[in-house]
Amino acid sequence: MKSIFVTGGAGFIGSHTCLLLLEKGHIVFILDSFINSSEKSITQISIILKDKGIDTNGKIYLCKGDINNLEDIEKVFQMSIELNKEIESVIHFAGLKSVFESVINPLIYWDTNVGGTINLLKTMKKFKCRNIVFSSSATVYKSKLKSELNENDVCVPVNPYGDTKLTIEKFLKDTYKSSPNEWRIACLRYFNPVGAHESGLIGEDPLGRADNLYPRITKVASGKIDSIKIFGSDWPTKDGTCIRDYIHVMDVAEGHLYALNYLIKEKPQFLTLNLGTGKGTSVLELIRNFEKINNVRIPFIFDERRLGDNAYVVADNSYAKSILNWIPQRTLNDICRDGWNWQLKNPNGFSV
Ligand code: NAD
Ligand code: UD1
Repeated sequence: MKSIFVTGGAGFIGSHTCLLLLEKGHIVFILDSFINSSEKSITQISIILKDKGIDTNGKIYLCKGDINNLEDIEKVFQMSIELNKEIESVIHFAGLKSVFESVINPLIYWDTNVGGTINLLKTMKKFKCRNIVFSSSATVYKSKLKSELNENDVCVPVNPYGDTKLTIEKFLKDTYKSSPNEWRIACLRYFNPVGAHESGLIGEDPLGRADNLYPRITKVASGKIDSIKIFGSDWPTKDGTCIRDYIHVMDVAEGHLYALNYLIKEKPQFLTLNLGTGKGTSVLELIRNFEKINNVRIPFIFDERRLGDNAYVVADNSYAKSILNWIPQRTLNDICRDGWNWQLKNPNGFSV
């Protein structure tokens, strides 16, 4: 079976994707600094798979290291060769993702996200590995008022985090163009990945600031914070609150497998694909849905609009669906149920 190098594989989306890769029989080499994750996510993956009768012995190689350090990346490639399990492809999740922090400290965002990716590509070139799937974000788009965003829409990020993502996409495109007969590259623009694996054994456990709506809803539900502040009640939407495209993390994880399979099967190419459901949900709808499906109360208050927010951010996912044959399977109810199940089973995330 194929060996896949997953940077940031202990993180939220990375761990769910590693689980699927292993389930499909792949070997995973993970490099993670654990700056925003825990080794325990990987232990939990083995438990989930053991329950399904899958033995992960000799299938997971977890390396603590930093993409800012070229040697750390090289060591992983080297190890895969020594083990006779040479890395075929890379899925690149590692990076920093807080918009707020990126405004306060752009240096570490450019250094880690852009600098780390350059280190990774240098190493891939050295080891003649030319297949990569990269975690980009819907945050690269210039917002539109009411229509869905497609991959050809104008990109104008409004914060350093988004700038780093678009810069990496451009760098990857230049890399592809430099040897178009060799590179297979997919940039996946995620919309709002939320929820957790149905087992409740892995999920989102942000160690730094968690300002996003979904983790705040689960925190209110579990009594860790009193109420949600809804940023704005006068947006030009059906109920006055902002609309987003919430997508189950397992659908996002599956999107990576489909993208990787497509890349390997088809001729070398550079792809940009939206990973979203194409369905918009308002802040109030998400809260109401979460309350109903989980039978909990989520008190909220209306607050000022958040700086830089947009009324409507929803994917046109037709391109990803048509070329990959990937269709997001899970509903908003699944998202609400699975995220709450994870929170209930792990009130302190991966910490004991
Ligand atoms: P996450 O923080 O849970 O995962 C990122 C992982 O990378 C973590 O395990 C972290 O410890 C690791 N990491 C960070 N810096 C590193 C470094 N210098 N060296 C090695 N490892 C490092 O985040 P996530 O939600 O799983 O997101 C994964 C990727 O997807 C990120 O690149 C993020 O920007 C992108 N993305 C996420 C979302 C989202 O809503 N979660 C949306 C769009 C794009
Ligand atoms: C955020 C990131 C974006 C990233 C995306 C997916 C910001 C500014 N943007 O976008 O870069 O790609 O997540 O991970 O952080 N809301 C509240 N109260 C809260 C929190 C949020 O009302 O306490 C509202 C927001 O105004 C927004 C919606 O909930 O309308 C979703 O917010 P959030 O979860 O932060 O995601 P995005 O704004 O889509």
